Amino acid sequence: MFEKDLLIKIAYLVASVLFIMGIKMLGKTSTARKGNILSAVAMFIAVAVTLLDSQVLSLTEILITILIGSILGTIAARRVEMTAMPEMVAILNGFGGASSVLVATSEYWRMAHNSALTMEAIMIITVVISVIIGAVTLTGSFVAFGKLKGIISGRAIMFSGQHALNAILFLAAIALSVMVVLEPNAEVYMIGVIVIALLLGILTVIPIGGADMPVVISLLNSYSGIAAAATGFVLNNQVLIIAGALVGSSGIILTQIMCKAMNRSLANVLLGGFGQTKAGVTNESGEEIVVKEVGVEETAMLFDSASSVIIVPGYGMAVAQAQHIVRELTEILEKRGTTVKFAIHPVAGRMPGHMNVLLAEANIPYDKLVEMDQINDEFANTDIALIIGANDVVNPAARTNPGSPIYGMPVLNADKARTVIVCKRSMNAGYAGIENELFGYPNCLMLFGDAKSSMTKVVSELKESVTA
Ligand code: TAP
Repeated sequence: MFEKDLLIKIAYLVASVLFIMGIKMLGKTSTARKGNILSAVAMFIAVAVTLLDSQVLSLTEILITILIGSILGTIAARRVEMTAMPEMVAILNGFGGASSVLVATSEYWRMAHNSALTMEAIMIITVVISVIIGAVTLTGSFVAFGKLKGIISGRAIMFSGQHALNAILFLAAIALSVMVVLEPNAEVYMIGVIVIALLLGILTVIPIGGADMPVVISLLNSYSGIAAAATGFVLNNQVLIIAGALVGSSGIILTQIMCKAMNRSLANVLLGGFGQTKAGVTNESGEEIVVKEVGVEETAMLFDSASSVIIVPGYGMAVAQAQHIVRELTEILEKRGTTVKFAIHPVAGRMPGHMNVLLAEANIPYDKLVEMDQINDEFANTDIALIIGANDVVNPAARTNPGSPIYGMPVLNADKARTVIVCKRSMNAGYAGIENELFGYPNCLMLFGDAKSSMTKVVSELKESVTA
């Protein structure tokens, strides 16, 4: 018996060390794959050892459930488009929250209905924490999923008295939690806590919209980790506490990085109601934006005479899957002696590191990818800024227009380049739903069309000009 306990503890320790090493390796693009594998091995050890533990009731039922979950998960992960990854992450966070609620409530029910078990206050408190954070994560994540998927409006949904209602619900959840601790056998208080926490999840995420969504996704991710850690305390399972704490703390760090990238405080994001109003198709002075169009041939000619190019990739490049043809364009330009760099905005695309992943997939060397802070001063000395499917991350209103909802958010200074070429399909707004007056700047040319097909045409035009 002693030996089995010791073996389980050692296995949990190994899994925890692997989790920590894995998460450290995920911090660098070059080691991220290995980090992912290490973390998966750690998760396998943790699950296998927990199943071998004698406390598991029916191994057959659990294995069947794992099999069904694994099949569904594998199919979903294989089918999901790279552009839909944030939606998938949102759903997975929600499932994490749901499992914390289910595990903690079933543990509560087990204790409440077994007179032989004493319900210690500290145990009830951890159950309540796990239930509240788990329930907020569950409904909050599903609202975030709906917003990202476009099922619910991506804009901030606000009504009068919303903050006051949230504050009342929050206080009610605390009051009911105290009642659960004082009278653990009165199940009605626990039901009240669950219902209010589920409501809070919805009400706290609906007022967040537009460019603030990345912050919310990483915050919910962190919540799912904290809920899991609290469940670890409920079950007295060390590896769950460690894994949950790692997810919780790394999620909070990512949230901070996102807030910094958007130049917003967390309180501002949670209460601000970003993207509530839609700006018009006008510039800062209220005049209609007039844009200059450019064709494929003219674009190729401009590249012919450029000695430096900075490419700004955005969400549209991911949608069009244009990364491979962009690599080809890079190679052609470099062969002609043109310097090419990529400017990476921290929230370009729809998930953290989205552009890095896409460009790495197309074998574009890491050293060509330059972070916003390092590259922003270089635009002024650059011949062409080629913006491919990016919009919000290059919107100069963030610097120049105090009335803009994104005012103060750091953006790429692509507008400072000698010539700016924007490749997108129309004049439609980006994720934040606001117009971009860069498109009307005198140095800006619009290359309308799908990013992949436009870039393919530009590349063949450049190739022809070499052979001609
Ligand atoms: P966006 O501002 O969303 O703009 C993308 C642009 O791509 C759109 O204006 C669209 O214009 C164009 N586009 C779409 N499909 C295209 C295609 N096939 N070919 C060419 N262009 C295409 O993207 P961004 O500049 O990358 O900024 C990211 C935004 O998403 C920010 O507001 C950010 O806050 C938000 N967000 C980010 C994350 C993370 S963590 N990265 C998560 C959630 C939300 P057309 O329709 O005219 O083509």
